[in-house]
Amino acid sequence: MKTLLVTGGAGFIGSNFVRYWIHNHPEDRVVNLDALTYAGNLENLDGVDESPNYRFVHGDICDGEGVKRLFGKEGIDTVVHFAAESHVDRSITGPEAFIRTNVFGTFNLLEAARESWKGDSRKCRFLHVSTDEVYGTLGPDDPAFTEQTPFAPNSPYSASKAASDHLVRSYFHTYGLPVLTTNCSNNYGPYQFPEKLIPLVFINALEGKPLPIYGDGMQIRDWLHVEDHCRGIDAVLRGGRLSETYNIGGVNEWANIDIVKTICQRLDQLRPGDQPKAELITYVKDRPGHDRRYAIDAGKMNRELGWKPSFTFETGIEQTINWYLENQAWWERVRDGDYRSYYEKHYGR
Ligand code: NAD
Ligand code: DAU
Repeated sequence: MKTLLVTGGAGFIGSNFVRYWIHNHPEDRVVNLDALTYAGNLENLDGVDESPNYRFVHGDICDGEGVKRLFGKEGIDTVVHFAAESHVDRSITGPEAFIRTNVFGTFNLLEAARESWKGDSRKCRFLHVSTDEVYGTLGPDDPAFTEQTPFAPNSPYSASKAASDHLVRSYFHTYGLPVLTTNCSNNYGPYQFPEKLIPLVFINALEGKPLPIYGDGMQIRDWLHVEDHCRGIDAVLRGGRLSETYNIGGVNEWANIDIVKTICQRLDQLRPGDQPKAELITYVKDRPGHDRRYAIDAGKMNRELGWKPSFTFETGIEQTINWYLENQAWWERVRDGDYRSYYEKHYGR
C-alpha cells in the first residue's frame, strides 16, 4: 500500500490521474495538494472526492514549510508531481509565476522528500511529470525526440520545466533521492482547460465564434490521450529505473490546422448549423518563439515497460468531443472569471 502525494491533482492531467489511480489502485491512499489557481477545479474530481482513501489539501507547493509538514503528517512515500503553470501563451505575457511554481515549487517538494525520506527511501518514489517542450523544436525531417536529445527550450514555460527537470536529476546524483522523470507530448481528453487548442476550438466552433490559428497553422504536435499518459506514469512508477527519464508520446503527429478541420467536420455532423464550422477559421498573429514541430520517440517506454497508447486518435478525439458535448455545464462554469478576462486580453487584439 502506498501513500501518494499528487500535486496539481485538480488540473487537467492531475485530476484524470487521481481518478485513474483511485480506480486502479484502491488499496493506496491519494493526497491531492493543489493551490486551485485559475486552472485548478475541484469539479474535475466529482465522483472520486468521496472515496475514503482520497484527501484534498488546499495548498501551494511554494510554501516549503507547509509541504514538509504534509509529508510528515500523511506519511507520503510516493510523489507524482503535476503542479505547474502549464500554458505557453501565459508564460510569454507573465513568466514570473512559471519560475515560482515550476522551479521553486519543484525545489520545495524535492527538499521535503529529501528530509522526510532520509532514513530509508528504498520504497519511495518521486516522479516528476514534464514535457517534450524541453527538447525545443524539430525540422520536418528530423528524427523524433529521444531521451538523449539535448534540451533546447524556447519559451519561458519550457525553460522553467527544463530547469525543474535538471533539479530533479541533481537530487538523485547528489542526495540519492529516488527520482523518475517523464517527458510527455501534447495531451487531450476530458477536463482540459479551454485555453488549450482542442477544447478552445471545440467550444468556439460550437458557439459560432472565430477559431484562432497562430501563424500558418502548420505547426505539428504529437497528440496523446490523457488516459494513456496516466497509464504511462503508472508503468514508470512501477518499473522505471531510478534517475532515468522516459519519453511518453502518441506517435500521432498532426498539423494544427488539420486538427482544427477534423474537429469542425465532426461537429458539422453532430451539430449542423447554418455554415460549415471550418468557415470560422481565423489566422491570427503567431505565438512568439513558436516551436514548429514536436515528435516523441516512445521506444524506451515500449521496450522497457511494455507501454503503448491504447487510444487511436480517431477513438480518442471521438470520446473527447462526446465528453465536451455531454459536459457543457462543466465548461461553461470554467469559462467564467479569470478565463474570460484572459481570453479578451489575449485574443482581443
Ligand atoms: P493544468 O494547468 O491543467 O493544471 C495545473 C494544476 O496545478 C492546477 O490544478 C493548478 O491549480 C495547480 N497548481 C498550479 N500552481 C500551483 C502551486 N503553486 N501549488 C499547487 N498547485 C498548483 O496543467 P496540466 O495540463 O494538467 O499539466 C500538468 C503537468 O503536466 C504540468 O507539469 C505540465 O508541465 C505537464 N505536461 C502537460 C502536458 C499537456 O499537454 N497538458 C503535456 C506534458 C506535460
Ligand atoms: O507538448 C506538451 C505541451 O503541450 C505541454 O507541456 C503544455 O503544458 C501544453 O499546454 C501543450 O503546449 P502547446 O503550446 O503545444 O499547447 P496549446 O494547446 O497551447 O497549443 C497547441 C498548438 O496550437 C500550438 O502549436 C499553438 C497552437 N494554437 C494554440 C492556441 C491556444 C493556435 O494555433 N491557436 C490557439 O488559439
